[in-house]
Amino acid sequence: MHGSFIVCLKEMIVSKFEESFWIEALEYAGLETTFRPISNQEIADETAIKLIKSTIKKLNLDERRFGEIFGNYWINEFARQKYFAFFDSCKSVKEFLGQINIIHQKITSNLSKQNPPIFTISWENPGTAIIEYKSSRGFIHIAVGLLKALGSYYYEEISVYRIDPNKIKVFLK
Ligand code: HEM
Repeated sequence: MHGSFIVCLKEMIVSKFEESFWIEALEYAGLETTFRPISNQEIADETAIKLIKSTIKKLNLDERRFGEIFGNYWINEFARQKYFAFFDSCKSVKEFLGQINIIHQKITSNLSKQNPPIFTISWENPGTAIIEYKSSRGFIHIAVGLLKALGSYYYEEISVYRIDPNKIKVFLK
């Protein structure tokens, strides 16, 4: 997995919670406390998954709530600063959704093992999207949180629901 995801996780824990929680999350995950994620480097999926699970445990959150907190931090703080060009090239949630696979492919293109999540979007009507999430990582709860945060980024009142293990329904207004 692209290192930025875990750089953001660390930044969120340190800035919104406590620095010691990051160390404890590393310990829970069975990693060296000196482990330092680097943005453009690959992190083994197994390590990223362990770290996210141990963070959820350490912060005493359920997966849904973690997805919302992390999703909001990623969209409205981390990616807003580091990847603003992707947001600027779209004017709405709908436009962004049309670019979502291209964005993930572009960012991960320099990794030796590329395995970005893939989203298949079908429109039930112009305001309702069904998004199918495909990834071996099982982070659909994060996808839900990221989509909710995307609505706040574009100041749109959207509703986002997980409707089955791999599908999300988004109502745009
Ligand atoms: C400018 C905004 C965004 C950027 C720059 C971005 C970038 C990234 C990057 C670099 C990764 C790691 C991928 C890998 O290594 O394979 C990632 C993962 C992920 N992204 Fe995004 N992303 C953005 C917005 C979104 C949005 C709006 C969603 C909502 C569906 C989303 C869903 C996910 C999920 C679920 C993952 C976890 C990886 C997985 O499940 O396989 N991202 N993103």
